[in-house]
Amino acid sequence: MELNTRTGHKGTGPGAITPDGCAVEFYSRLPAGPEPDIITAAVPAGALVLELGSGVGRMTHPLLERGFRVTAVDESPEMLERVRGARTIRSPIEDLHLGETFDVVLLASFLVHSGDVRVRQGLLAACSRHVARDGCVLIQREGEDYHTNVPRERVDPSGFIVRVASSEPLGDGVNEVRAEYEFPDATWTQTFRARPLTTQQFEDALAEAGLEVDRYLTEDRTWVRAVPAP
Ligand SMILES: C[S@@+](CC[C@H](N)C(=O)[O-])C[C@H]1O[C@@H](n2cnc3c(N)ncnc32)[C@H](O)[C@@H]1O
Repeated sequence: MELNTRTGHKGTGPGAITPDGCAVEFYSRLPAGPEPDIITAAVPAGALVLELGSGVGRMTHPLLERGFRVTAVDESPEMLERVRGARTIRSPIEDLHLGETFDVVLLASFLVHSGDVRVRQGLLAACSRHVARDGCVLIQREGEDYHTNVPRERVDPSGFIVRVASSEPLGDGVNEVRAEYEFPDATWTQTFRARPLTTQQFEDALAEAGLEVDRYLTEDRTWVRAVPAP
């Protein structure tokens, strides 16, 4: 089935591109980073995890290796076919109604900053209806200077460049962001719409979904542990 591109999202470069503009080949090359350790420190050992927007399993695989049981959800079949060892479900997150709850629901990769408020509400509602009453939702937010410290770039130790080339206001609090990923043999770009959220706006969005912050997990407050509101 052909999937429609999400409005304002675009990707370029070799291989399949997801509706939100992500390149499958790029995410297959991207190392896991610190996220699996941050997650492991915040949840019970062996927890049942629902990972929303799993991509190729960059975080799924290290989480499985650490003994978590993971259900990986993504709307891109090309992403999901690279996930190994986890139950996979192909669906827009907003439409997910599994009728099950999980110890941990994971919403990483700044998806909560969707430019479309209805999509953001749909994502957080999906988190809320799939988290166990005594479970938690782990969310990755943008850093404070995400949209202001541009252009910026870093050279990954494995030798490629990640660049946030621009973030331009489109009106209504939404920015168009262009990211570029340069390897010696290939370049990918992603253009997407993101909505910066102050801490208050983020916490209000959680409250609207029946969630509240339990604690911020990292000093830069980009990783959050949220729980069902009483
Ligand atoms: C930036 S990639 C990150 C993938 C993975 N979390 C990682 O860190 O490697 C975002 C992924 O989320 C998926 N995605 C984005 N929005 C989605 C939505 N609303 N429903 C389902 N999948 C979505 C995309 O297809 C893509 O695979």
